[in-house]
Amino acid sequence: MKKRVFSGIQPSGNLHIGNYLGALKNWVASQENFDNIFCIVDLHAITVPQDPKVLKQKIREVAGIYFASGIDPKQSIVFVQSDVSAHAELAWILNCFTPLGWMSRMTQFKEKSGDQRESVSVGLYDYPVLMASDILLYDTDEVPVGEDQKQHVEITRDIAQRFNSIYGETFKLPTPVIPKTGARVMDLLEPVKKMSKSDDREGRTLPLLASVDQLRSAIMGAATDSQKEIVFDMGRPGIYNLLEIYEGVTSLSREEIEARFAGKGYGDFKKELADRVIEFLEPFQKRYQDLTSDPAQLESLLTEGAEKAAEIAEKKMAEVKNKVGLG
Ligand code: AMP
Ligand code: TRP
Repeated sequence: MKKRVFSGIQPSGNLHIGNYLGALKNWVASQENFDNIFCIVDLHAITVPQDPKVLKQKIREVAGIYFASGIDPKQSIVFVQSDVSAHAELAWILNCFTPLGWMSRMTQFKEKSGDQRESVSVGLYDYPVLMASDILLYDTDEVPVGEDQKQHVEITRDIAQRFNSIYGETFKLPTPVIPKTGARVMDLLEPVKKMSKSDDREGRTLPLLASVDQLRSAIMGAATDSQKEIVFDMGRPGIYNLLEIYEGVTSLSREEIEARFAGKGYGDFKKELADRVIEFLEPFQKRYQDLTSDPAQLESLLTEGAEKAAEIAEKKMAEVKNKVGLG
């Protein structure tokens, strides 16, 4: 029996190289060895305001990006979260077993709500419980995500443990799997904050579907420092981040990369990084165009995915309802 992997991305904003290196790349790399479920988490996206037309289109865009990255519908279930009602249903039940205090500790909520704490939605606050439901419905063993999601997988374990201790063994405890490199790709202009799809003003991110000119100009304009050496030094966040992106798209070792740029300047390095990123993204974008040129085909893959996911999820829901005494 293969271990189960579950992960998801929100269909909001423009997916960027951080989403690829922190999440997608690793999903694809280990696809054969696992029983995989990849979700497009649209219920998570509406925790902040969304334009309905844009949301619908973004859901298809993320599906296209999953498949263009190499997710194979023969090896992995791909589906849209709101197509399987068990996610929202389990979230409600788990809400009733999750102490308020646990949610108040979540750093992502604190960051996202900022000084708007009283006016953001209850959904934004509750988002980790919905994420826990996603994971727990499928007896997930591993959750491959970027560094920012580690705390949410840990709280999923706490919620599962609490439920299990009351009702007996029901949920498997998942493990977060964070990549060694690319787990936290930084903003190109302010390399002390994470590259984010909710702040993708020009030059800050490298969107996976961006034009060659946009990619090149973002890389050439990326912040560095006044030193010269091109080495992996975490104390120099700008150059470190660019080197990590180079490492991520070429899969060369750090030693090889440092040797290659020994004695060269930032300008040469950035030019070559832009070439490598473009070389990597061009075939990716071509696959994306091909896949999305046939919307009916994409739709049918998602319908098939939702049917397979629902079959697994509904079994778990029945067990949970029975244990809690519902219905
Ligand atoms: P999100 O963009 O928040 O929907 O995240 C989707 C996935 O990409 C999650 O696994 C995140 O941890 C990962 N991710 C998001 N931003 C970054 C980043 N800047 N660096 C690495 N991984 C990221
Ligand atoms: N919260 C995750 C993010 O913003 C997305 C997500 C939702 C997720 N449900 C999940 C990731 C379940 C892994 C497993 O990145």
